[in-house]
Amino acid sequence: MTMPDFNMDHQWLPFTPNRSFKKDPRVFVAADGMHFTTHDGKKVIDGISSLWCVGAGHNRKPINEAIKKQLDTLDYATAFNASNDKAFQAAEMIAGMAPGDLNKVLFCNSGSEAADTSMKVALAYHRARGEGHRNVFIGRERGYHGVGFGGMSVGGIPANRKVYGTALLPRVDHMRFIHDPVNHAFINGVEQDWKEDILLELENRILPLHDPSNIAAVIVEPVAGSAGWYLPPRGYLKRLREICDKHGILLIFDEVITGFGRMGTNFAADYYGVVPDMLNFAKCVTNGVIPLGGVICREHLYDTMMAANDKSPAHAVEFFHGYTYSGHPVACAAAIATLNLFKEENLFARAGEMGRVLGDAMHAACKGLPHVIGIRALGNAAAVELSGIPGLPGKRAYDIFIECFHKGALVRPAGECLVIAPPYIVEKSHIEQLVGTLADAIKKNA
Ligand SMILES: Cc1ncc(COP(=O)(O)O)c(C=O)c1O
Repeated sequence: MTMPDFNMDHQWLPFTPNRSFKKDPRVFVAADGMHFTTHDGKKVIDGISSLWCVGAGHNRKPINEAIKKQLDTLDYATAFNASNDKAFQAAEMIAGMAPGDLNKVLFCNSGSEAADTSMKVALAYHRARGEGHRNVFIGRERGYHGVGFGGMSVGGIPANRKVYGTALLPRVDHMRFIHDPVNHAFINGVEQDWKEDILLELENRILPLHDPSNIAAVIVEPVAGSAGWYLPPRGYLKRLREICDKHGILLIFDEVITGFGRMGTNFAADYYGVVPDMLNFAKCVTNGVIPLGGVICREHLYDTMMAANDKSPAHAVEFFHGYTYSGHPVACAAAIATLNLFKEENLFARAGEMGRVLGDAMHAACKGLPHVIGIRALGNAAAVELSGIPGLPGKRAYDIFIECFHKGALVRPAGECLVIAPPYIVEKSHIEQLVGTLADAIKKNA
Protein backbone atom coordinates (compact mmCIF):
# COMPACT_ATOMS: atom_id res chain seq x y z
CA MET A 1 0.00 0.00 0.00
CA THR A 2 1.22 3.48 -0.90
CA MET A 3 -0.18 6.52 0.84
CA PRO A 4 -2.27 8.85 -1.35
CA ASP A 5 -0.54 11.95 -2.65
CA PHE A 6 -3.38 14.21 -1.44
CA ASN A 7 -4.11 15.68 1.96
CA MET A 8 -6.44 13.51 4.08
CA ASP A 9 -6.60 15.86 7.05
CA HIS A 10 -9.94 17.49 6.41
CA GLN A 11 -12.54 14.84 5.72
CA TRP A 12 -14.17 13.39 8.87
CA LEU A 13 -15.25 9.97 7.62
CA PRO A 14 -18.78 8.70 8.44
CA PHE A 15 -19.32 5.44 10.38
CA THR A 16 -15.56 4.75 10.04
CA PRO A 17 -12.72 4.37 12.53
CA ASN A 18 -10.94 7.53 11.31
CA ARG A 19 -7.67 6.95 13.19
CA SER A 20 -6.94 3.53 11.73
CA PHE A 21 -8.25 4.55 8.30
CA LYS A 22 -5.62 7.25 8.02
CA LYS A 23 -2.90 4.65 8.61
CA ASP A 24 -4.30 2.17 6.08
CA PRO A 25 -6.54 4.16 3.72
CA ARG A 26 -9.04 2.64 1.34
CA VAL A 27 -9.54 5.25 -1.36
CA PHE A 28 -11.34 4.62 -4.63
CA VAL A 29 -10.54 6.71 -7.66
CA ALA A 30 -12.47 4.87 -10.40
CA ALA A 31 -15.09 2.15 -10.86
CA ASP A 32 -16.48 0.06 -13.69
CA GLY A 33 -18.85 -2.90 -13.68
CA MET A 34 -18.05 -5.01 -10.61
CA HIS A 35 -14.74 -3.35 -9.79
CA PHE A 36 -13.09 -0.33 -8.23
CA THR A 37 -9.61 1.02 -8.79
CA THR A 38 -7.87 2.31 -5.67
CA HIS A 39 -5.52 5.29 -5.31
CA ASP A 40 -2.58 2.89 -5.54
CA GLY A 41 -3.86 1.22 -8.69
CA LYS A 42 -5.34 -1.97 -7.17
CA LYS A 43 -8.49 -3.63 -8.48
CA VAL A 44 -11.10 -4.34 -5.79
CA ILE A 45 -14.33 -6.26 -6.42
CA ASP A 46 -17.44 -4.53 -5.05
CA GLY A 47 -19.08 -7.26 -2.98
CA ILE A 48 -21.61 -4.95 -1.35
CA SER A 49 -22.97 -2.90 -4.27
CA SER A 50 -21.30 0.05 -2.52
CA LEU A 51 -23.60 -0.04 0.51
CA TRP A 52 -26.51 -1.73 -1.29
CA CYS A 53 -26.76 1.00 -3.93
CA VAL A 54 -25.20 -0.09 -7.20
CA GLY A 55 -27.59 -2.83 -8.36
CA ALA A 56 -26.80 -2.36 -12.04
CA GLY A 57 -23.03 -2.24 -11.51
CA HIS A 58 -20.73 0.75 -11.82
CA ASN A 59 -20.36 3.23 -14.65
CA ARG A 60 -23.55 2.39 -16.52
CA LYS A 61 -23.64 4.51 -19.65
CA PRO A 62 -27.45 4.94 -19.95
CA ILE A 63 -27.54 6.45 -16.45
CA ASN A 64 -24.49 8.63 -17.04
CA GLU A 65 -25.89 9.86 -20.36
CA ALA A 66 -29.29 10.66 -18.84
CA ILE A 67 -27.60 12.74 -16.17
CA LYS A 68 -25.43 14.62 -18.66
CA LYS A 69 -28.44 15.32 -20.87
CA GLN A 70 -30.49 16.53 -17.92
CA LEU A 71 -27.73 18.88 -16.79
CA ASP A 72 -27.78 20.55 -20.19
CA THR A 73 -31.59 20.76 -20.24
CA LEU A 74 -32.82 21.63 -16.76
CA ASP A 75 -30.11 21.61 -14.12
CA TYR A 76 -32.29 22.45 -11.15
CA ALA A 77 -35.65 24.01 -10.41
CA THR A 78 -37.28 24.89 -7.12
CA ALA A 79 -39.42 22.14 -5.63
CA PHE A 80 -41.82 24.39 -3.73
CA ASN A 81 -44.82 25.92 -5.50
CA ALA A 82 -43.44 24.46 -8.76
CA SER A 83 -41.92 21.20 -9.96
CA ASN A 84 -40.20 19.62 -12.95
CA ASP A 85 -41.11 17.07 -15.62
CA LYS A 86 -38.59 14.44 -14.50
CA ALA A 87 -39.95 14.39 -10.93
CA PHE A 88 -43.45 13.56 -12.19
CA GLN A 89 -42.14 10.91 -14.59
CA ALA A 90 -39.96 9.28 -11.93
CA ALA A 91 -42.85 9.31 -9.42
CA GLU A 92 -45.13 7.62 -11.98
CA MET A 93 -42.56 4.89 -12.65
CA ILE A 94 -41.93 4.28 -8.95
CA ALA A 95 -45.65 4.19 -8.14
CA GLY A 96 -46.15 1.82 -11.08
CA MET A 97 -43.59 -0.59 -9.62
CA ALA A 98 -45.01 -0.51 -6.09
CA PRO A 99 -47.70 -3.00 -5.06
CA GLY A 100 -51.33 -2.23 -4.19
CA ASP A 101 -52.36 1.40 -4.01
CA LEU A 102 -48.95 2.66 -2.94
CA ASN A 103 -49.25 5.51 -5.41
CA LYS A 104 -48.18 8.86 -4.01
CA VAL A 105 -44.46 9.56 -3.87
CA LEU A 106 -42.91 12.14 -1.55
CA PHE A 107 -39.31 12.65 -2.66
CA CYS A 108 -36.35 13.37 -0.39
CA ASN A 109 -32.61 12.75 -0.68
CA SER A 110 -31.72 9.82 1.53
CA GLY A 111 -32.96 6.90 3.57
CA SER A 112 -32.66 8.93 6.77
CA GLU A 113 -34.89 11.63 5.35
CA ALA A 114 -37.31 8.98 4.14
CA ALA A 115 -37.61 7.63 7.71
CA ASP A 116 -38.34 11.04 9.18
CA THR A 117 -40.70 11.91 6.32
CA SER A 118 -42.74 8.74 6.81
CA MET A 119 -42.99 9.37 10.55
CA LYS A 120 -44.19 12.91 9.94
CA VAL A 121 -46.78 11.70 7.42
CA ALA A 122 -48.04 9.25 10.05
CA LEU A 123 -48.52 12.00 12.65
CA ALA A 124 -50.07 14.45 10.20
CA TYR A 125 -52.42 11.81 8.79
CA HIS A 126 -53.73 10.74 12.18
CA ARG A 127 -54.24 14.37 13.17
CA ALA A 128 -56.10 15.01 9.91
CA ARG A 129 -58.46 12.17 10.84
CA GLY A 130 -59.06 13.65 14.27
CA GLU A 131 -56.75 11.18 16.06
CA GLY A 132 -53.87 13.51 16.91
CA HIS A 133 -53.31 11.53 20.11
CA ARG A 134 -51.77 8.72 18.05
CA ASN A 135 -48.16 9.68 18.54
CA VAL A 136 -46.38 6.51 19.70
CA PHE A 137 -44.01 4.82 17.24
CA ILE A 138 -42.93 1.20 17.40
CA GLY A 139 -39.64 0.09 15.85
CA ARG A 140 -37.67 -3.08 16.40
CA GLU A 141 -34.47 -3.98 18.19
CA ARG A 142 -31.47 -3.73 15.88
CA GLY A 143 -33.51 -1.91 13.22
CA TYR A 144 -31.75 0.78 11.19
CA HIS A 145 -33.63 3.75 9.81
CA GLY A 146 -30.80 6.20 9.30
CA VAL A 147 -29.36 8.94 11.43
CA GLY A 148 -32.05 11.62 11.73
CA PHE A 149 -33.59 11.95 15.18
CA GLY A 150 -36.81 10.24 14.07
CA GLY A 151 -35.12 7.32 12.36
CA MET A 152 -32.56 6.97 15.13
CA SER A 153 -35.31 6.89 17.77
CA VAL A 154 -37.23 4.05 16.11
CA GLY A 155 -33.93 2.39 15.19
CA GLY A 156 -32.59 -0.24 17.53
CA ILE A 157 -28.83 -0.48 17.03
CA PRO A 158 -27.46 0.36 20.48
CA ALA A 159 -24.20 2.02 19.34
CA ASN A 160 -26.14 4.44 17.14
CA ARG A 161 -28.36 5.52 20.03
CA LYS A 162 -26.28 5.45 23.15
CA VAL A 163 -24.81 8.97 23.11
CA TYR A 164 -28.03 10.79 22.27
CA GLY A 165 -29.97 10.12 25.47
CA THR A 166 -33.08 12.21 25.97
CA ALA A 167 -32.65 13.87 22.58
CA LEU A 168 -34.20 10.72 21.11
CA LEU A 169 -37.96 11.01 20.56
CA PRO A 170 -40.12 10.12 23.54
CA ARG A 171 -43.04 7.71 23.14
CA VAL A 172 -41.15 5.15 21.10
CA ASP A 173 -41.02 1.44 21.85
CA HIS A 174 -39.25 -1.48 20.20
CA MET A 175 -40.34 -5.01 19.35
CA ARG A 176 -37.95 -7.84 19.94
CA PHE A 177 -35.49 -8.88 17.27
CA ILE A 178 -36.15 -11.53 14.60
CA HIS A 179 -33.31 -13.93 15.22
CA ASP A 180 -33.22 -17.41 16.68
CA PRO A 181 -29.53 -18.38 16.90
CA VAL A 182 -30.35 -21.80 18.33
CA ASN A 183 -32.91 -23.24 15.93
CA HIS A 184 -32.41 -21.08 12.84
CA ALA A 185 -28.76 -20.09 12.71
CA PHE A 186 -28.25 -21.34 9.16
CA ILE A 187 -30.76 -20.19 6.55
CA ASN A 188 -30.33 -20.70 2.83
CA GLY A 189 -33.13 -19.17 0.78
CA VAL A 190 -35.95 -20.76 2.75
CA GLU A 191 -38.21 -18.87 5.13
CA GLN A 192 -38.08 -20.40 8.58
CA ASP A 193 -41.07 -21.72 10.53
CA TRP A 194 -40.69 -20.69 14.13
CA LYS A 195 -42.49 -22.66 16.83
CA GLU A 196 -42.81 -19.45 18.79
CA ASP A 197 -45.02 -16.51 17.68
CA ILE A 198 -42.71 -13.56 18.27
CA LEU A 199 -45.43 -11.02 17.57
CA LEU A 200 -47.32 -12.09 20.71
CA GLU A 201 -44.98 -9.70 22.50
CA LEU A 202 -46.34 -6.82 20.41
CA GLU A 203 -49.94 -7.86 20.93
CA ASN A 204 -49.77 -8.82 24.59
CA ARG A 205 -47.18 -6.45 26.02
CA ILE A 206 -46.31 -3.45 23.86
CA LEU A 207 -49.74 -2.54 22.52
CA PRO A 208 -51.54 -2.77 25.87
CA LEU A 209 -48.74 -0.81 27.56
CA HIS A 210 -49.25 2.22 25.32
CA ASP A 211 -52.86 1.46 24.41
CA PRO A 212 -53.27 0.66 20.71
CA SER A 213 -55.37 3.82 20.21
CA ASN A 214 -52.25 5.92 20.88
CA ILE A 215 -50.01 4.22 18.35
CA ALA A 216 -49.28 6.07 15.11
CA ALA A 217 -47.18 3.54 13.24
CA VAL A 218 -44.99 0.48 13.33
CA ILE A 219 -41.83 0.76 11.22
CA VAL A 220 -39.71 -2.23 10.21
CA GLU A 221 -37.16 -3.24 7.65
CA PRO A 222 -38.72 -6.34 6.04
CA VAL A 223 -35.24 -7.88 6.25
CA ALA A 224 -32.91 -6.32 8.83
CA GLY A 225 -30.09 -5.18 6.55
CA SER A 226 -27.66 -3.02 8.47
CA ALA A 227 -27.72 -5.32 11.50
CA GLY A 228 -26.40 -8.14 9.29
CA TRP A 229 -29.11 -9.54 6.99
CA TYR A 230 -31.51 -11.05 9.51
CA LEU A 231 -34.64 -12.62 8.01
CA PRO A 232 -38.16 -12.64 9.40
CA PRO A 233 -39.80 -15.98 10.17
CA ARG A 234 -42.47 -17.20 7.79
CA GLY A 235 -45.71 -15.23 8.06
CA TYR A 236 -44.21 -12.51 10.29
CA LEU A 237 -44.95 -9.54 8.04
CA LYS A 238 -48.46 -10.76 7.17
CA ARG A 239 -49.29 -11.10 10.82
CA LEU A 240 -47.78 -7.68 11.55
CA ARG A 241 -50.06 -6.25 8.85
CA GLU A 242 -53.10 -7.90 10.45
CA ILE A 243 -52.24 -6.57 13.91
CA CYS A 244 -51.78 -3.04 12.56
CA ASP A 245 -55.08 -3.23 10.65
CA LYS A 246 -56.93 -4.46 13.71
CA HIS A 247 -55.85 -1.39 15.68
CA GLY A 248 -55.80 1.35 13.02
CA ILE A 249 -51.98 1.53 13.19
CA LEU A 250 -50.02 2.46 10.07
CA LEU A 251 -47.39 0.01 8.87
CA ILE A 252 -44.19 1.46 7.37
CA PHE A 253 -41.72 -0.74 5.49
CA ASP A 254 -38.24 0.71 5.33
CA GLU A 255 -37.11 -0.71 1.98
CA VAL A 256 -34.03 1.44 1.58
CA ILE A 257 -32.02 -1.78 1.20
CA THR A 258 -34.65 -4.29 0.09
CA GLY A 259 -36.29 -2.01 -2.50
CA PHE A 260 -35.57 -2.17 -6.22
CA GLY A 261 -34.51 -5.73 -6.71
CA ARG A 262 -32.45 -6.96 -3.77
CA MET A 263 -35.01 -9.69 -3.04
CA GLY A 264 -35.37 -10.65 -6.72
CA THR A 265 -38.65 -8.67 -6.83
CA ASN A 266 -39.45 -4.96 -7.11
CA PHE A 267 -39.79 -4.66 -3.34
CA ALA A 268 -39.72 -6.93 -0.30
CA ALA A 269 -43.43 -6.06 -0.04
CA ASP A 270 -43.87 -8.10 -3.25
CA TYR A 271 -41.61 -10.90 -2.03
CA TYR A 272 -43.61 -11.29 1.19
CA GLY A 273 -47.01 -10.41 -0.31
CA VAL A 274 -47.72 -7.63 2.18
CA VAL A 275 -48.64 -4.05 1.28
CA PRO A 276 -47.56 -1.49 3.90
CA ASP A 277 -49.17 1.95 4.26
CA MET A 278 -45.86 3.62 3.45
CA LEU A 279 -42.75 2.29 1.77
CA ASN A 280 -39.42 4.11 2.19
CA PHE A 281 -36.82 3.88 -0.54
CA ALA A 282 -33.40 5.33 -1.53
CA LYS A 283 -30.07 3.82 -2.67
CA CYS A 284 -30.77 1.57 -5.71
CA VAL A 285 -33.41 3.91 -7.14
CA THR A 286 -30.61 5.85 -8.88
CA ASN A 287 -28.07 3.01 -8.81
CA GLY A 288 -26.41 5.09 -6.09
CA VAL A 289 -25.15 7.56 -8.64
CA ILE A 290 -26.99 10.59 -7.27
CA PRO A 291 -28.74 10.90 -3.90
CA LEU A 292 -32.50 10.32 -4.07
CA GLY A 293 -34.92 8.89 -1.56
CA GLY A 294 -38.63 8.90 -1.00
CA VAL A 295 -41.73 7.58 0.67
CA ILE A 296 -44.48 5.91 -1.36
CA CYS A 297 -47.81 6.42 0.40
CA ARG A 298 -51.07 4.60 -0.05
CA GLU A 299 -53.88 6.59 -1.65
CA HIS A 300 -55.88 6.90 1.56
CA LEU A 301 -53.09 8.82 3.29
CA TYR A 302 -52.97 11.42 0.55
CA ASP A 303 -56.75 11.57 0.21
CA THR A 304 -57.22 12.07 3.94
CA MET A 305 -54.68 14.89 4.03
CA MET A 306 -56.37 16.60 1.10
CA ALA A 307 -59.90 16.07 2.44
CA ALA A 308 -58.91 17.56 5.80
CA ASN A 309 -58.27 20.78 3.90
CA ASP A 310 -61.59 20.81 2.06
CA LYS A 311 -62.63 23.92 3.90
CA SER A 312 -59.22 25.60 3.78
CA PRO A 313 -58.57 28.33 1.22
CA ALA A 314 -57.11 27.14 -2.09
CA HIS A 315 -53.64 28.50 -1.30
CA ALA A 316 -53.38 26.51 1.97
CA VAL A 317 -50.52 23.97 2.08
CA GLU A 318 -51.81 20.54 3.14
CA PHE A 319 -48.52 19.09 4.48
CA PHE A 320 -45.81 21.34 5.84
CA HIS A 321 -42.83 19.25 4.84
CA GLY A 322 -40.32 19.00 1.98
CA TYR A 323 -36.68 19.52 1.06
CA THR A 324 -34.99 22.03 -1.24
CA TYR A 325 -33.94 19.07 -3.35
CA SER A 326 -37.18 17.04 -3.23
CA GLY A 327 -37.56 15.60 -6.75
CA HIS A 328 -34.31 17.14 -8.02
CA PRO A 329 -34.49 16.91 -11.84
CA VAL A 330 -30.99 15.42 -12.22
CA ALA A 331 -31.62 12.80 -9.54
CA CYS A 332 -35.00 11.97 -11.07
CA ALA A 333 -33.46 11.69 -14.55
CA ALA A 334 -30.96 9.25 -13.03
CA ALA A 335 -33.83 7.31 -11.44
CA ILE A 336 -35.76 7.06 -14.71
CA ALA A 337 -32.68 5.77 -16.54
CA THR A 338 -31.85 3.35 -13.70
CA LEU A 339 -35.34 1.88 -13.52
CA ASN A 340 -35.44 1.49 -17.31
CA LEU A 341 -32.07 -0.26 -17.23
CA PHE A 342 -33.18 -2.64 -14.47
CA LYS A 343 -36.17 -3.56 -16.63
CA GLU A 344 -34.35 -3.84 -19.96
CA GLU A 345 -31.72 -6.15 -18.50
CA ASN A 346 -34.22 -8.03 -16.34
CA LEU A 347 -31.88 -7.42 -13.44
CA PHE A 348 -34.26 -8.15 -10.56
CA ALA A 349 -34.84 -11.72 -11.77
CA ARG A 350 -31.09 -12.03 -12.19
CA ALA A 351 -30.60 -10.75 -8.64
CA GLY A 352 -32.83 -13.56 -7.39
CA GLU A 353 -31.03 -16.22 -9.45
CA MET A 354 -27.53 -15.11 -8.50
CA GLY A 355 -28.69 -14.82 -4.88
CA ARG A 356 -29.30 -18.56 -4.87
CA VAL A 357 -25.78 -19.13 -6.22
CA LEU A 358 -24.43 -16.85 -3.48
CA GLY A 359 -26.38 -18.62 -0.72
CA ASP A 360 -25.10 -22.04 -1.80
CA ALA A 361 -21.51 -20.81 -2.18
CA MET A 362 -21.55 -19.12 1.21
CA HIS A 363 -22.82 -22.24 2.98
CA ALA A 364 -20.39 -24.50 1.12
CA ALA A 365 -17.36 -22.31 1.85
CA CYS A 366 -18.04 -20.95 5.34
CA LYS A 367 -20.14 -23.48 7.28
CA GLY A 368 -17.88 -25.28 9.74
CA LEU A 369 -15.09 -22.69 9.64
CA PRO A 370 -13.68 -21.50 12.99
CA HIS A 371 -16.01 -19.14 14.92
CA VAL A 372 -18.80 -19.33 12.32
CA ILE A 373 -22.06 -19.54 14.28
CA GLY A 374 -24.55 -18.73 11.53
CA ILE A 375 -25.08 -18.05 7.85
CA ARG A 376 -28.16 -16.36 6.40
CA ALA A 377 -28.91 -16.05 2.70
CA LEU A 378 -32.05 -14.80 0.99
CA GLY A 379 -32.53 -12.64 -2.08
CA ASN A 380 -29.26 -11.30 -3.41
CA ALA A 381 -27.43 -11.07 -0.09
CA ALA A 382 -25.83 -13.35 2.46
CA ALA A 383 -24.24 -12.90 5.87
CA VAL A 384 -21.91 -15.03 7.91
CA GLU A 385 -22.04 -14.54 11.67
CA LEU A 386 -19.01 -15.16 13.89
CA SER A 387 -18.64 -15.50 17.61
CA GLY A 388 -17.19 -12.24 18.91
CA ILE A 389 -13.88 -11.78 20.72
CA PRO A 390 -14.72 -11.29 24.43
CA GLY A 391 -14.35 -7.62 25.36
CA LEU A 392 -13.75 -6.52 21.76
CA PRO A 393 -17.15 -6.45 20.05
CA GLY A 394 -16.97 -6.32 16.26
CA LYS A 395 -13.18 -6.75 16.11
CA ARG A 396 -13.13 -10.17 14.50
CA ALA A 397 -15.48 -9.08 11.70
CA TYR A 398 -13.56 -5.84 11.22
CA ASP A 399 -10.22 -7.65 10.93
CA ILE A 400 -11.72 -10.04 8.39
CA PHE A 401 -13.09 -7.10 6.39
CA ILE A 402 -9.61 -5.51 6.30
CA GLU A 403 -8.01 -8.79 5.28
CA CYS A 404 -10.55 -9.22 2.45
CA PHE A 405 -9.86 -5.68 1.26
CA HIS A 406 -6.15 -6.33 1.10
CA LYS A 407 -6.95 -9.41 -0.99
CA GLY A 408 -9.04 -7.32 -3.39
CA ALA A 409 -12.61 -7.87 -2.13
CA LEU A 410 -14.94 -5.32 -0.51
CA VAL A 411 -17.30 -7.03 1.96
CA ARG A 412 -19.25 -5.37 4.77
CA PRO A 413 -18.63 -5.81 8.50
CA ALA A 414 -21.85 -5.45 10.52
CA GLY A 415 -21.41 -6.16 14.22
CA GLU A 416 -20.14 -9.75 14.36
CA CYS A 417 -21.31 -10.44 10.79
CA LEU A 418 -19.82 -10.07 7.34
CA VAL A 419 -22.23 -9.37 4.54
CA ILE A 420 -21.97 -9.91 0.80
CA ALA A 421 -24.60 -8.15 -1.35
CA PRO A 422 -23.18 -7.81 -4.86
CA PRO A 423 -24.50 -5.82 -7.81
CA TYR A 424 -27.18 -7.79 -9.68
CA ILE A 425 -24.84 -8.12 -12.69
CA VAL A 426 -22.60 -10.40 -10.60
CA GLU A 427 -21.26 -13.54 -12.33
CA LYS A 428 -20.64 -16.94 -10.75
CA SER A 429 -16.88 -16.36 -10.95
CA HIS A 430 -17.26 -13.11 -8.96
CA ILE A 431 -19.23 -14.94 -6.29
CA GLU A 432 -16.54 -17.61 -6.09
CA GLN A 433 -13.89 -14.92 -5.68
CA LEU A 434 -15.86 -13.04 -3.01
CA VAL A 435 -16.81 -16.08 -0.98
CA GLY A 436 -13.38 -17.68 -1.38
CA THR A 437 -11.63 -14.53 -0.19
CA LEU A 438 -14.00 -14.28 2.77
CA ALA A 439 -13.51 -17.94 3.74
CA ASP A 440 -9.71 -17.57 3.58
CA ALA A 441 -9.86 -14.42 5.72
CA ILE A 442 -12.05 -16.20 8.31
CA LYS A 443 -9.49 -19.02 8.53
CA LYS A 444 -6.60 -16.57 8.76
CA ASN A 445 -8.31 -14.74 11.64
CA ALA A 446 -9.22 -17.93 13.56
C1 LIG B 1 -33.09 0.35 6.06
C2 LIG B 1 -32.37 1.65 6.00
N1 LIG B 1 -33.01 2.78 6.27
C3 LIG B 1 -32.42 3.98 6.21
C4 LIG B 1 -31.10 4.08 5.87
C5 LIG B 1 -30.43 5.42 5.86
O1 LIG B 1 -30.17 5.81 4.56
P1 LIG B 1 -29.16 7.03 4.28
O2 LIG B 1 -27.81 6.60 4.71
O3 LIG B 1 -29.32 7.23 2.80
O4 LIG B 1 -29.66 8.19 5.06
C6 LIG B 1 -30.37 2.93 5.56
C7 LIG B 1 -28.96 3.01 5.18
O5 LIG B 1 -28.27 2.05 5.04
C8 LIG B 1 -31.02 1.69 5.64
O6 LIG B 1 -30.36 0.55 5.40
